[in-house]
Amino acid sequence: MKAPRLISLILVLALAFGLVSGASAQDVSGDLEIFSWWTGGGEEAGLNALIERFSELYPEVNVINSAVAGGSGVNARAVLTTRMLGGDPPDTFQVHAGEELNALWVEAGLMEPLNDIYEENGWLDDFPQGLLDLISDDEGNIYVVPVNIHRSNVLWYVPGNLEEWGVTVPADWDEFLNTTCPALQEAGVTPLSVGENWTQAHLWESVALAELGAEGYNGLWNGETNWASPEVVGVFETFGQILDCTNEDRNALTWQDASQMVAEGRAAFNVMGDWAAGYFLVDLALEPGEGFAWAPSPGTEGVFMMLSDTFGLPKNAPNPEAVRAWLSFLGTPEAQDIFNPLKGSLPANTSANIDDPELYNAYFQEAYEDWTTNVIVGSQAHGAVAPQAFTNGFANIIATFAADRDAASASASAAELALQTGVGR
Ligand code: GAL
Repeated sequence: MKAPRLISLILVLALAFGLVSGASAQDVSGDLEIFSWWTGGGEEAGLNALIERFSELYPEVNVINSAVAGGSGVNARAVLTTRMLGGDPPDTFQVHAGEELNALWVEAGLMEPLNDIYEENGWLDDFPQGLLDLISDDEGNIYVVPVNIHRSNVLWYVPGNLEEWGVTVPADWDEFLNTTCPALQEAGVTPLSVGENWTQAHLWESVALAELGAEGYNGLWNGETNWASPEVVGVFETFGQILDCTNEDRNALTWQDASQMVAEGRAAFNVMGDWAAGYFLVDLALEPGEGFAWAPSPGTEGVFMMLSDTFGLPKNAPNPEAVRAWLSFLGTPEAQDIFNPLKGSLPANTSANIDDPELYNAYFQEAYEDWTTNVIVGSQAHGAVAPQAFTNGFANIIATFAADRDAASASASAAELALQTGVGR
């Protein structure tokens, strides 16, 4: 047999046995329902850019984007739970790395392990071990593919506005409460903007981190910090004073509304995760460092409070083959570099091109520096350290506290909730 014919024969056989990866892309077909809460701005743009590239790679797959609006997934998670428990899972869904994934879906045996995808792509060396630990069970089964790393403890502001109002970025909450807040109130500016309930819980975790320190904050989740202790009562007291420096219409505002107050000079500061960077960059087309700027939330310098958005394969997903194709794409450096510059987050895959300043501007460069050098803790408001049951109950505690300002009672209720939901055990 002549050499070219032998090569063709080998190629035909390889194709027949699915050994050439390009062949399988054409073979994967059918609907792929992607469930998330990314419905606007940089979040939606990032998701759409991923879907667009995936559709080029897998032209026979029909992507159905069934995102449910509502920041931090407050509405999406309720819909997802109904569907999962009703035996009607989407093909793949957004879920936070850590307890949001583990305590619910993995524990209930509703997720498929994805180790083969990690092995085929060499990702065991590409994703940070600490992140892999958050998405694996004790037997080493890995259940999801992370698309990003977000930071929760960020303070956003506009440098020119601070100058005009004669204030500087507060180093800690003492300075904010004693100096910054009164000066801004005097100038008729809202010192700190905040939005609906979950954004208040988001603020609370940054305050807790500042007041308790990284070890004390971690202790809330590993059982070493007593939720009913004077220290936690103190966190609520500080949180209450901070709320007095915020806008009164908070419950009516989304996180984007609260970010916009800062961008438009109606408020001086906002504490939000760095999806706000995606909002400033994509929705408002602002220049990093000028139109918006950032600092660790007061008192948390040197600590990076992380969370990660991931996608997995639920058991009984209608089209598991298409999900595997989607997940194999999501973890690649290419996908991570498409998504994260729009989303405001860092790539989770360490072989993505974070060093490229064309892709990742000054915000990302600084966040990456902190991600790789700071002490890392996990976000409660975004599923890393506490189960969904705790987060749901804590939302009520925050709502009650915002109304009655009873710090001792909030701390006692949180202690009871922690006990009921297995936090710290
Ligand atoms: C978080 C999520 C982010 C962003 C944010 C606001 O829970 O991890 O990706 O979507 O909510 O909706």
